[in-house]
Amino acid sequence: MSARITASVFTSHVPAIGVAIDQGKTGETYWQPLFAGFEPARAWIRENPPDAVILVYNDHANAFGLEMIPTFALGLAASYEPADEGWGPRPVPTVHGHPELAAHIAHSVIQQDFDLTLVNEMTVDHGLTVPLSIMFGQPPAWPCPVVPLAVNVVQYPVPSGRRCLQLGQAIRRAVESFDNDLNVQIWGTGGMSHQLQGPRAGLINQPWDKAFMDRLIADPAGLAGMPHIDYVREAGSEGIELVMWLIARGAMADCADVADPAGRADSAAPTVVHRLYHVPASNTAVGQLILEDHS
Ligand code: DHB
Ligand code: FE
Repeated sequence: MSARITASVFTSHVPAIGVAIDQGKTGETYWQPLFAGFEPARAWIRENPPDAVILVYNDHANAFGLEMIPTFALGLAASYEPADEGWGPRPVPTVHGHPELAAHIAHSVIQQDFDLTLVNEMTVDHGLTVPLSIMFGQPPAWPCPVVPLAVNVVQYPVPSGRRCLQLGQAIRRAVESFDNDLNVQIWGTGGMSHQLQGPRAGLINQPWDKAFMDRLIADPAGLAGMPHIDYVREAGSEGIELVMWLIARGAMADCADVADPAGRADSAAPTVVHRLYHVPASNTAVGQLILEDHS
């Protein structure tokens, strides 16, 4: 039996959320409502544990710098240590990879004409570890292997929404051709609206974020046509992180096998099993979404 993608998880990755977990502050007045909001997602993943997660995220000049700027970097390593982002590495477990699945995805996706960068050694920053902490809490070891897919959304030019959706479609085909009975989830992380510098620092756009979630669920192909300038104007300079959510969305069944992403496959749309929107955490609007596939 081959591997399959069963669900997608979308979540912000605000570093202060990781600090709140690491320092035992989740019950404090500021944090308690947000962590109460995460509870249904944590209950869902306890009921629906993946065998592996493809975790789409962005590095924030920790593993990569201006020396090398890969647009799409897939991790093939057996393990990844948490990055030191200036305050020492987060006290979270080593992230274990899935070299066989990752190598298969690399082969399949590159043969589908996506020129991935392949990474055999890197550290992982809050962009990857905070989503793991949000979903799994503080286990002594992460409960499943992770295939990291680091996307450049920090230094322009960054990939288009259309390219991200197409990459998700290619990843679905790759997973479905992996000859191993694996239940795979794909996570899209980052966002939602936030801007960390300049005159508009602190920007949050609640109506735009909520409309983004609506369109991600119901009109992913249309949303994929939205240009970068709209993300930056409406959701702030760091709001462009949201373009990564389209990779995970493109890997769902209803986007499959559509040569032209403006078309739609026959498969039923995924079921929304969890949706959260909370403002603010640190400087950022926090969104979380879980979509389950039926195929
Ligand atoms: C914040 C959010 C981010 O996405 C990030 O990478 C760093 C900081 C913040 O809200 O503070
Ligand atoms: Fe970020």
